Amino acid sequence: MPFQYWTVTPLLMLFLNSGRAFAMSDARIVQGPNKNLGEALTFLREYDTGASNICLKVSSAQWNYATNMTDVNKRKMIEQQMLKAKFEKISWKKAALFDWPKISDPLLKRQLKLLITRGRASLPDEKFNEIHHLISEMKDMYLHVRICAFNNYDTNYCDLVLDPDVHRIMEHSRNSDELLHIWREWHDKTGPPMKNKFMRYIQIANQASRMTGFVDAGEQMRYIYEERDFEHEIATTWRAIEPLYKELFTYVRRRLYIKYGPDVVRPDGPIPAHILGNIWAQEWSKISDIVIPYSTEKQLDVTDELLRQGFTPLRMFQMAEEFYTSLGLKPLSPEFWRNSLFEKPKNRKVQCTASAWDFCNKIDYRLKQCTEVTMNDLITIHHEMAHIQYYLQYSEQPYLYRDGANPGFHEGLANAMVLSVYNPVHLHRVGLFNNNTDTYELNMNFLMIMALRKVAYAPFALLVDQWRYNVFKNGVRTMNFNWWELRLLYQGIVPPIARNEGHLDAVAKRHIPADLPYMKYYVALLLEFQIFDALCGAMGHTAQLHTCDIYRSREAGRILTDIMQAGESKHWKDVLRMLRTKTNGLSAEPLLKYFQPLLSWLKVQNRDEAFIGWNAKVEDTALFQPLFSKISGCARNVFNTFPCVVIAIHLVVNYL
Ligand SMILES: *[C@@H]1O[C@H](CO)[C@@H](O)[C@H](O)[C@H]1NC(C)=O
Ligand SMILES: *[C@@H]1O[C@H](CO)[C@@H](O)[C@H](O)[C@H]1NC(C)=O
Ligand SMILES: *[C@@H]1O[C@H](CO)[C@@H](O)[C@H](O)[C@H]1NC(C)=O
Ligand SMILES: *[C@@H]1O[C@H](CO)[C@@H](O)[C@H](O)[C@H]1NC(C)=O
Ligand SMILES: [Zn+2]
Repeated sequence: MPFQYWTVTPLLMLFLNSGRAFAMSDARIVQGPNKNLGEALTFLREYDTGASNICLKVSSAQWNYATNMTDVNKRKMIEQQMLKAKFEKISWKKAALFDWPKISDPLLKRQLKLLITRGRASLPDEKFNEIHHLISEMKDMYLHVRICAFNNYDTNYCDLVLDPDVHRIMEHSRNSDELLHIWREWHDKTGPPMKNKFMRYIQIANQASRMTGFVDAGEQMRYIYEERDFEHEIATTWRAIEPLYKELFTYVRRRLYIKYGPDVVRPDGPIPAHILGNIWAQEWSKISDIVIPYSTEKQLDVTDELLRQGFTPLRMFQMAEEFYTSLGLKPLSPEFWRNSLFEKPKNRKVQCTASAWDFCNKIDYRLKQCTEVTMNDLITIHHEMAHIQYYLQYSEQPYLYRDGANPGFHEGLANAMVLSVYNPVHLHRVGLFNNNTDTYELNMNFLMIMALRKVAYAPFALLVDQWRYNVFKNGVRTMNFNWWELRLLYQGIVPPIARNEGHLDAVAKRHIPADLPYMKYYVALLLEFQIFDALCGAMGHTAQLHTCDIYRSREAGRILTDIMQAGESKHWKDVLRMLRTKTNGLSAEPLLKYFQPLLSWLKVQNRDEAFIGWNAKVEDTALFQPLFSKISGCARNVFNTFPCVVIAIHLVVNYL
């Protein structure tokens, strides 16, 4: 009988402990003497006008640069961003004069609280500027990393960039030596040069959080979820997803073993990080050629059909607008159609990442996308347009409430819309997919692609900030070790070559040097399926969840409107209640329901596997031991007992 060494239990205990430790009252957070309701009202009115104006100016300057990348436009953008930082700092100081926990009006109190508990304006000017400078330096360094090609390593062809070169090679190369080379280049050239700056950043970020009243910057990051059992909730949902993840993992590992052989993958071991089609091994859809269940069966791709029917980018945007108006949501304004950027201009340099913009003046909303007539771009348009719908729906809220109910809502909701659009039934309904949508093979292929994107992503989305919380809390001494500890524990991923504390592999992911939160992607993943399931339930869909299409459902539209109009004015659990489902917190059930048919299929595929999940051995953990500890030196690691526990489990098991 397979015995799984890597259980989630030690970690769950960690979560539970920290959950209690972090339960905090507002009393610890900065507050002043002023209880005057009228003055609070006046301050917030002025703040609202000022912040909206500045947001308009910054967004305009950012738009000008993003759609016309000249030095002049960059300078203007930076000027506006500095004015905004200054405004935020001044506003924070004014807000901190109020005794906000005692303000009787709940809406005013909440706005003050949001204002005071976010950002780093509590720092003295010098440090405030220093951390901004550090972050922008790290972002710049990340942007300018160039790595050497595999072919002529000796002759120094060293001009490859992350996007598109690294991505292209990781996605398409099936030569494990080349993949390893690119993986190593990228990780060696991002982390080590930034390590000193990153350590200083950790220090100042913690100082800022302490000055606001938090224990450390990790607590401040979690506080935004306004939920004392937040980490417990996260751990519980992961425990529910883990069995599905392990079945997927086991099946994928078998296919990779067949492809690359025992020199690259052990048949019961963790998977090395370089062969999953993604430089971070965070989603695996690019190796679908290796793992697709029925390779002879058609896959869901309507690009040819779009071309055959003569679609243009503009018509794709109109189609997406019609999807939202069919739900009873708002049509887009003339300004939107006039000002958006739909295609890559030929006469100037632009940032092509698709994005949705709110200019904070209740008039101007725009999309920016270098659209090509492909299915992927059609899906992306629907996603981005969901953000615009959200902006439109909460536009009447005060500035501080014009955001998702928690940091996961915007992405979760937009992706819930995509579940209804990238869907054989919907594409059939809009005349783009005329083949039989009903074959078992087509559905398994489809669910496999979705699982490679969503289920494979879950543990990564969860662990990035878990790592950051640990670094903020425990310090930087074994941070690379801790990164791989978590990746092995949650994802079953190991580095393809030895790493040590001279490396800093988490920095290979842009969100780390760029100071961008990550837990929101895990929350969004759960919300995506929760929202989708609730909308499908409301319109009476009873067949398999992945075949549900909310197109033309006014019931679904009404629920969406309620959620979006609330913005961030309420606790997100009160907003979730508008879904009218039984659960009122985060839940993995809808995700599991969506993938249920695939889980059954995977179990059949894996029936002869000796090991569901991964059997981590000393040779795996030896790949990333900190230099000072070796394996037996775990006791020296006293400030952070968690890695010791895990290593101890290994030693016991492997030497039995
Ligand atoms: C791009 O920006 C420059 C200023 O740097 C401006 O002179 C030029 O007209 C802009 N081009 C377009 C097409 O907007
Ligand atoms: C080496 O790789 C680079 C980038 O992939 C490519 O542009 C170049 O043509 C290659 N050179 C040879 C000799 O294959
Ligand atoms: C439907 O399938 C046939 C072959 O099975 C293919 O030639 C045709 O292009 C497909 N149509 C669409 C819309 O995908
Ligand atoms: C939902 O919330 C209500 C009120 O907060 C609570 O009483 C109830 O137990 C919750 N239900 C579930 C299933 O958690
Ligand atoms: Zn988005």
